[in-house]
Amino acid sequence: MDNQKVIIFDTTLRDGEQSPGAAMTHDEKLRIAKALEKLKVDVIEAGFAMASPGDFEAIQTIASTIKDSTVCSLSRALEQDIDQAAKALRQANSGRIHTFIATSPIHMQHKLCMTPEQVIERATLAVRHARNLIDDVEFSCEDAGRSDIDFLCRIIEAAINAGATTINIPDTVGYALPHQFGETIKTLLEKIPNADKAIFSVHCHNDLGLAVANSLAAVVNGARQIECTINGLGERAGNASLEELVMAIRTRKDSLNLTTNINTLQIVPTSKLVSGVTGFPIQPNKAIVGANAFAHESGIHQDGIIKFRETYEIMKAEDVGWNTNRLILGKLSGRHAFRTRMEELGITFRDAEELNTAFAHFKSLADKKTEIFDDDLQALASDVRNQQLEEKYSLVMLEAGSSTSMTPKAKLVVSINGKETAVTSEGDGPVDAVFKAIEKIVDSRAQLTLYNVNAITSGTDSQGDVSVRLEKDGRIVNGSGADTDIVIASAKAYINALNLLDHRPRKTHPQTGTV
Ligand code: KIV
Ligand code: ZN
Repeated sequence: MDNQKVIIFDTTLRDGEQSPGAAMTHDEKLRIAKALEKLKVDVIEAGFAMASPGDFEAIQTIASTIKDSTVCSLSRALEQDIDQAAKALRQANSGRIHTFIATSPIHMQHKLCMTPEQVIERATLAVRHARNLIDDVEFSCEDAGRSDIDFLCRIIEAAINAGATTINIPDTVGYALPHQFGETIKTLLEKIPNADKAIFSVHCHNDLGLAVANSLAAVVNGARQIECTINGLGERAGNASLEELVMAIRTRKDSLNLTTNINTLQIVPTSKLVSGVTGFPIQPNKAIVGANAFAHESGIHQDGIIKFRETYEIMKAEDVGWNTNRLILGKLSGRHAFRTRMEELGITFRDAEELNTAFAHFKSLADKKTEIFDDDLQALASDVRNQQLEEKYSLVMLEAGSSTSMTPKAKLVVSINGKETAVTSEGDGPVDAVFKAIEKIVDSRAQLTLYNVNAITSGTDSQGDVSVRLEKDGRIVNGSGADTDIVIASAKAYINALNLLDHRPRKTHPQTGTV
């Protein structure tokens, strides 16, 4: 293997999905997996097969669809988890089992209630068992960032002897500092006698905002795989962000002398897709994929850019896929053009009925908005899917208005299991009135913990993309809805969140073991 190549292991569909409220449907996962393949990530961690039957099926579908990336399933160091992962990956062109166990004193003592010797034994058995089922086995030392280095050396040596082909060093709680984390990787590579028989990987969390810096320090010191996610999605403060890592490696090749396989032109479209599907908006000043990442506000900067772009820009916006939001369709576009563009965006329809519904939505959108961009089509696809699910709650009719002199009111009809109920309510604003009206009927007792509106494209005729986060009994869901009218988009998002609260199956969390 090219020693300067860094393997990009994307865990958006696994660690990313562990973000509170970021759970994705089977179809959404498949769409993201296809986008990751187009982005040319080397490994897609498609999920944790033991989490739920739905997760198992999603990994199975992704494994049988994706051809160019390795598809991976996470498993605890337990035989039944590993068997389930192997089963889900059976159809994969190239499959990997990723098994892990915690190695820090605090985790071994308080979470696992195991001695270090027992942990080594369990890890060895798990890797050996996985290796009997598949050739590509990754072993992770959970909480390696707080583990004893000599213990790490012992367990990693044993895991490699048992057949692990990749060794992952996670900074699970985002505790590491770049100079110290780089030193850890260097020491492991120097001290472990069989280190040359495996690829060393890192998986950094962003609790101190250092995930990307720690990952880069690791590759400078010999790691050759980085685990990361689109938009830095992941548990708590998230994981290292794929787009930042890839662009740092590319832009600073002069210093790092490393490469990746990533097709950088797909970075922005993939980022938008993940943001749309999860309802996690991208902050405007986010590096690479934020709306302002390449915008120049001050006169001095603009003048410099016009004279010579490199005065203030170290990367080209078009190299990461900005400007690929093509204006492609309009009012006169036909069904064939619509379907073709949707397919180019990785959106396929289950049957003629779903295509007809989506096309009807497209026509009504084109009546309100003369220019339809790719981002509009992505939002439209999510909206149609939400409405097609056999949901308990759906919006039938909505009237709400704003006035400088009157209390905002909303009047709406909501269907609950097919039975329609009309309701009116007042509120501080039209959105507040709509949410209160919905709650008058549904009485969910859920808490609204986030409300966010984003313009999907530029211009005042843009669709508003609304995210609503609801929490109830420890469960968190993110609903989304899009419409040229943000009050309607808000109602759709709220109702989508209520349906998710109602339906979304509980799953086992791989690290805490809780449901
Ligand atoms: O953060 C972590 O330690 C993980 C492991 C399961 C790899 O996500
Ligand atoms: Zn993690």
